[in-house]
Amino acid sequence: MTEKSDALAVPVDVTMRRPTLLGVPAMPILAAPRVVRRAQVEEAGALAALLGRAFEAERWDAPDTERELFCDETVKATLVVAAEGRLVATASLQVRPDLPECGWVRWVATDLDRRREGLARALVIGVLAMAGQAGCREARLYTQTDRLAAIPLYLQLGFELCGGDPEREVWARVIRLLSGGSP
Ligand SMILES: CC(C)(COP(=O)(O)OP(=O)(O)OC[C@H]1O[C@@H](n2cnc3c(N)ncnc32)[C@H](O)[C@@H]1OP(=O)(O)O)[C@@H](O)C(=O)NCCC(=O)NCCS
Repeated sequence: MTEKSDALAVPVDVTMRRPTLLGVPAMPILAAPRVVRRAQVEEAGALAALLGRAFEAERWDAPDTERELFCDETVKATLVVAAEGRLVATASLQVRPDLPECGWVRWVATDLDRRREGLARALVIGVLAMAGQAGCREARLYTQTDRLAAIPLYLQLGFELCGGDPEREVWARVIRLLSGGSP
C-alpha cells in the first residue's frame, strides 16, 4: 500500500478521537540502539529536517519548529526515537486550555528509511500515556483521508472518526480502500 492514493483525489481533513485513555497498550520496548525520549530545544533543527522530509508539502525550518514545538506552552512534550545520534521518528502531545480533558496527538512522523519498524506506534502510545498522566481523559488528532499509512495506525490504537455525514461518506471509501476493496 502506498502512503497516498490517487483513488482519493480530494483528501478531506478529518479529526479522529479516542474516547478514553483507558486501555492504552504498554509502550513497546524498542531494540537498541533506538531509544524513546523527549526532544530538546537544541534539536529543533534536526526535528525540522525530519518533519520536512515526512511532510513533503510543508516547509519546516529550525526557528518555526522551535517556536511551534518548544515555545508554545500548549505543547506539553515532543517525543522522539533517536538512533545512533539521529532523530528518526517523532510525535508530540498538545493540551489546549479550551479543552483540557483532551490530549492532541500532533506531528507524527517517521523517516522514510525507518518506516514499518513500529516507531510511530511506540511514540503515539507514549503520547497517549503522557496525556493520561497530564490528566486528560480522551485523545484527538487531525489527519487527512489520503494518509493511508497513518490511518491504520490510529485505528489500531483505538481512534475513531469524529465528524458528520460528509466526512463519514469519504471515510467509508477510505475504509473500503484499506480493506483491499475499490474506493
Ligand atoms: C504514518 C507514519 C508516521 C507511520 O510511521 P511508521 O513508524 O512507519 O509506523 P509503524 O511502523 O509504527 O506502523 C504501525 C502501524 O501503522 C500502519 N502502517 C504504517 N505504515 C503503513 C503503510 N505504509 N501502509 C499501511 N499501513 C501502514 C500499520 O497498521 C502498522 O502496523 P503493522 O506494521 O503491524 O502492520 C509514517 O508513514 C509517516 O511519517 N508518514 C508521513 C507523515 C504522516 O502522514 N504523518 C501522520 C500525519 S496525521
